[in-house]
Amino acid sequence: MQKLEVFGANKLKGQINISGSKNASLPILAATLLTDKKVFLNNLPKVKDIETMINLLQSLGSKTKFEKKKLIIDNSNQEKKFASYSLVKTMRAGILVLGPLLAKFGSAKVSLPGGCAIGTRPVDLHLKALSKLGVKYKIIQGYVHATAPKGLIGSKIRFSKISVGATENLIIAASLAKGNTILSNCAIEPEIKDLVNFLNKAGCNLKWVAKRSIKIIGVKKINEITYPIMFDRIEAGTYLVAAAATEGNLKIKNVVPSIIQTEIDTLKKIGAKIDTKKDQIHIIGNKKIKSMNIKTAPYPGFPTDLQAQIMVLLCKGNKRSLIQEDIFENRFMHVAELNRMGAQISTHGNKAIIEGNVNFASAELMATDLRASVSLILAALTAKGKSVINRIYHLDRGYENIEKKLKKVGAKIKRIN
Ligand code: UD1
Repeated sequence: MQKLEVFGANKLKGQINISGSKNASLPILAATLLTDKKVFLNNLPKVKDIETMINLLQSLGSKTKFEKKKLIIDNSNQEKKFASYSLVKTMRAGILVLGPLLAKFGSAKVSLPGGCAIGTRPVDLHLKALSKLGVKYKIIQGYVHATAPKGLIGSKIRFSKISVGATENLIIAASLAKGNTILSNCAIEPEIKDLVNFLNKAGCNLKWVAKRSIKIIGVKKINEITYPIMFDRIEAGTYLVAAAATEGNLKIKNVVPSIIQTEIDTLKKIGAKIDTKKDQIHIIGNKKIKSMNIKTAPYPGFPTDLQAQIMVLLCKGNKRSLIQEDIFENRFMHVAELNRMGAQISTHGNKAIIEGNVNFASAELMATDLRASVSLILAALTAKGKSVINRIYHLDRGYENIEKKLKKVGAKIKRIN
């Protein structure tokens, strides 16, 4: 199994180009099932989750090929409607094929995603909302068996809780439904806006009618489309934290700063100096880091996917900080490993109390999930000596070329087979 060796502690300096967004690519890849015309996608990140989603599409009969960096998807002969456990179990976003398969074929059998390290992550909101579009379903031996006897029929649906995945599944399904759908209490993450832009460019008819409400007028078919995926805002946020934690000086390129204003404002409050240009963020880390209280929340709040990373920075704060994790119930698995490096963090339900003024010590570490893994790299980058991070397959699910990007800005980091 591969490991990473990280030798701290030097200041990161230089430029990092941000890749395409994993979390925007996944629903857009699922949405390509709606059309039998060709789809050309640019700026997909080369990460494991995208490979898994492409494998899932292929298992459903999609033909895919890369031409240079562009993925071409041809669904003209796509006719399978069964998504197996082996492909959905490793990546929860596999459930996103349910909506488009139902819209296209009127029936589908899709594995439940199953457990996940950061929480139970049910799909009840997806299923409840789909049933309002006329879907009948049963769960048999871990699979959702769903049919829409009269096809999908537009409806008014209010989500009882904000969910990124449920909003995406419903947006995709309703795009081909008969009549109009209004979804309210939607997630409005930038990746959802990217999905909506993609669908509209492909000939669908979606319009935001209020901050968290969208009107979808069902269309009959979807056109050929070429689309560039937006930048990965979590990857950008991770490197911003890396600069702040190492007193570095980084230019983060290929971004839209206004999309991550909450993160920029948070880092400024903590003490980093930040200047933004049209597609670039320049950050200079400060030796003095101010403590802060942070709550994770749906967009435009502070992202749960950046909680582990910001915790590393707050360990270096001048006083005690508090993080309240309001999205997932079990997302503090990095805490035990950070404490082994000298952090003093205690958790109480969904709250973590983080004592400040910590100098991390290098250690051998175990990655537990995608964002937890990267938080260990960040801590190791600030610790003198060699740290070893095991189980980095978690990292490879979502960070493109992370060692290469970090090495280019002066980090000493090496992958060991
Ligand atoms: C997406 C992101 C993930 C991010 C999360 C929150 C992708 C591929 N993944 O995950 O990186 O951390 O948004 O920003 O884009 N819930 C239910 N019932 C459901 C669905 C969700 O109770 O049917 C709960 C979840 O357990 C969680 C909360 O709602 O507590 C939010 O989950 P959701 O927004 O759906 O996250 P994902 O779409 O899985």
